[in-house]
Amino acid sequence: MSSILGGAPVEGAPGGVLEVANPARLDEPVAEAHLGDAGTFLEACRIARSAQPGWAGVPAPVRGRAIQHLGRLVEENLEALARLITREIGKPIAESRGEVQEVVDTCTFFLGEGRRLYGQTVPSEMPDKQLFTFRTAVGVAAIVTAGNFPVAVPSWYIVPALLCGNAVVWKPAEYTPATAAAFAQLILHAGLPAGAFNLVLADGERTFDGLERALGEELVDKVGFTGSTEVGRRIGELAGRHLQSACLELGGKNPLVVMPDADLDLAVEGALFSGFGTAGQRCTSLGTAIVHRGVHDEFIRRFDAATRSASIGDPTTDVLYGPMISRRFCDRFLGWLELIREHHTTYGSTAMGRITGDRPRAGFVGDPEAGLFCHPTIVDGVTARDELYRTETFGPIVGVASFEDFDEAIALANGHGYGLSSSIYTTDPLHAFRFRERVSAGMVSVNNSTSGAEAHLPFGGNGRSGNGSRQSGVWVLDQFTRWQAVNWDYSGRLQRAQMDVADVTADLGFRLPD
Ligand code: UN1
Repeated sequence: MSSILGGAPVEGAPGGVLEVANPARLDEPVAEAHLGDAGTFLEACRIARSAQPGWAGVPAPVRGRAIQHLGRLVEENLEALARLITREIGKPIAESRGEVQEVVDTCTFFLGEGRRLYGQTVPSEMPDKQLFTFRTAVGVAAIVTAGNFPVAVPSWYIVPALLCGNAVVWKPAEYTPATAAAFAQLILHAGLPAGAFNLVLADGERTFDGLERALGEELVDKVGFTGSTEVGRRIGELAGRHLQSACLELGGKNPLVVMPDADLDLAVEGALFSGFGTAGQRCTSLGTAIVHRGVHDEFIRRFDAATRSASIGDPTTDVLYGPMISRRFCDRFLGWLELIREHHTTYGSTAMGRITGDRPRAGFVGDPEAGLFCHPTIVDGVTARDELYRTETFGPIVGVASFEDFDEAIALANGHGYGLSSSIYTTDPLHAFRFRERVSAGMVSVNNSTSGAEAHLPFGGNGRSGNGSRQSGVWVLDQFTRWQAVNWDYSGRLQRAQMDVADVTADLGFRLPD
């Protein structure tokens, strides 16, 4: 598979050839990606630039039809796409199906937006004059996404960007080329004109160079990026130099607070799903469970038991999680385990690190040595001084800290500097509302885990998790359109704002009798 520019596959591989294997069975090849380079990215942006005015000229309800067709195509191909995701990144099949469903939901939401995309009529301060607002397309959107959600997260950008009349250049993670190529084919079969959507397969550095050049040549008007905080900073800086604000969706260290009045089994279920689902490789994954001292020991006991008995292994079966997405993620995760210190106590499995013949996992489904499987690890005794507390550890590791009073819980929930997702388990509405008010996260769950955002609520974070941009629902429209203000004077004379405005006379000295 290769990049697709203007609807045609690109010949050659100036960025090299990348072999991608199934992370659950490393001897099974999945894809051979012919990578592009900075020039490929630049060319994609040029093509998008010339296609964009034509696409923006298509009436928005008709663009909505293209999104409707895309949603239908994705739905008809749901099973094939879900299986491919599971083969390429090892996501359990039920979650892969959920991920594809999220694309369908996103299309369902935005196809109607083609018939809304509302502006306003606004009264003027003068007679015979009317004010209006219109949403206009931004232009060319360059979208760079991670591989842990290889279709759902890209769809959060691509679908509204196209609906709003932008042309798109999409650079997926280079280690998910098969899924990206399949999704691109579905997009290209939805009725878009050639060049309105382009796929670039390339590594991060070459993409960055291409983006820098494309911004320099004024070929890109909006950058969307989902990935690490470190890369997000570089992209935000680069976009800033061109007076643009990128849409950034970065890392998280998502807290889950357990109050003494919580339903503990529910909290454990939530911690298990958000801590270890997708092997902890979601940006919404649970970072640290912050548990009231009064229920801490019992929480640990139940969380440990639930984690020990969770099934891990072959992602084509009904498991909590499968392999790490790729070797890079696996190696990095093994490094994070070194943040565990003397004062910590670990729980959750029969060993730590890679699951192997020597370090087996009870109940493992399949052959652990065939793929990149890791033990789940619960680290108790985490404090605000620990590096583990402040570090996003993309993988199956969950910290547990304890607190005495609510202020302490809030300080722990915010103190790491990320602000993506958060959760509180409580049966007291007062705690829930106080938490909402004081937590710095962009997303808050009450009696639900930190993961599992629905496709039509604003998704995004604060602090190290992003620059305040939001995706999904109507909120993302502000990323992919600009407001245009129009005033129309039909009085036949020049009416000067502020100066030629009639006033009403009031008697401001009037007082009610004492
Ligand atoms: C991500 O990891 O980048 O809320 C997004 C969730 C998913 C999306 C995660 N629907 O967990």
